[in-house]
Amino acid sequence: MGKNNSQPTILAIESSCDDTAAAVLRNGKIHSNCVSTQLDHQEYGGVVPELASRKHQQKIVPVVQKALEEAQTSLDELDAVACTQGPGLLGSLLVGYSFAKGLALSRGIPLINVDHIEAHIWAHYIGADQPLEPMLCLLVSGGHTQLVHVASGRMEVLGKTLDDAAGEAFDKAGKMLGLPYPAGPELDSLAQEGDPTRFSFSTARTGELDFSFSGLKTSILYFLQKEVAVDPDFVQKNLNDLSASIQHTIVSYLMSKMKLALEQRTYKSIGVAGGVAANSELRRELDKLAREWEVKAYLPQLDHCTDNAAMIAQAALYQWQNRNFGTLADHCYTRNETNH
Ligand code: KG4
Ligand code: ZN
Repeated sequence: MGKNNSQPTILAIESSCDDTAAAVLRNGKIHSNCVSTQLDHQEYGGVVPELASRKHQQKIVPVVQKALEEAQTSLDELDAVACTQGPGLLGSLLVGYSFAKGLALSRGIPLINVDHIEAHIWAHYIGADQPLEPMLCLLVSGGHTQLVHVASGRMEVLGKTLDDAAGEAFDKAGKMLGLPYPAGPELDSLAQEGDPTRFSFSTARTGELDFSFSGLKTSILYFLQKEVAVDPDFVQKNLNDLSASIQHTIVSYLMSKMKLALEQRTYKSIGVAGGVAANSELRRELDKLAREWEVKAYLPQLDHCTDNAAMIAQAALYQWQNRNFGTLADHCYTRNETNH
């Protein structure tokens, strides 16, 4: 069809961490969104990079095939192949990216490089309900925490974490409570039955819109050590209240940064993206904040929050429209490289 087609058919691939994902976008819509999540890392309490890249190698072909089949799209119909270029684990990224390059070369179609962090925010643009701009987006996942000003496809990072990501804070706190990795979802459900004000933990003071979670981690650790020394069953006896209090501390901290950003500039909407956007308290608080500030609140559907290829396809569509194509000489990057 050529690069001038304004409604391209794009195959998108994501393999930056422990999810192998592929999606097909056609006529501006997502027609398939397939993910294979690696469960192999649970027993290690975190993602093991070497294991992750080997699993991606096993899954990449079946997942791509499934995405093409579900979208009833043949390789001949593809106008471009898009792939996460970074940031992420190098071995994992290389599997998807080398596959995408090979496909682009063999089919004679363009390669579109996509930044994983920006793609999480593009998840808001999937479907008909486009966010009102400018939007203030809080991106919170296992690997990233950023506050981003979004308007007309431009993403300006206003603040980011100086150490752990918000999801990592949930996971590490959960680990201290004896929860399996990733602990975020379980901590969230335990918190439903707990008292969020029972225990208080300190959060770090940082430069205005930046985040830091290492102080919180230490605060929880010291508190638990002290209590467990007195009563070895302290964690078990107080699991719900501990979960609720930790969650409340993290969510309140995230919301305080959003409020600060809302005071500094005018926005028409606010949104949350990334895996932690699944958190029930965060979702409630976002709605509350939106009402207070009289702006619209946006939450992408859950399978567009955690790592997926639909968001890669959506980001790629914007790049296609701007004729921004990659080359076979391009490389993956492991750390934030775009506007950070
Ligand atoms: O976006 P994502 O799937 O992968 C990364 O790019 O990192 O995010 C995964 C993170 C994990 O840290 C997980 O614990 C957290 O999202 N998470 C949650 C919840 N669901 C997932 N954290 C808190 N509450 C949840 N309900
Ligand atoms: Zn992610």
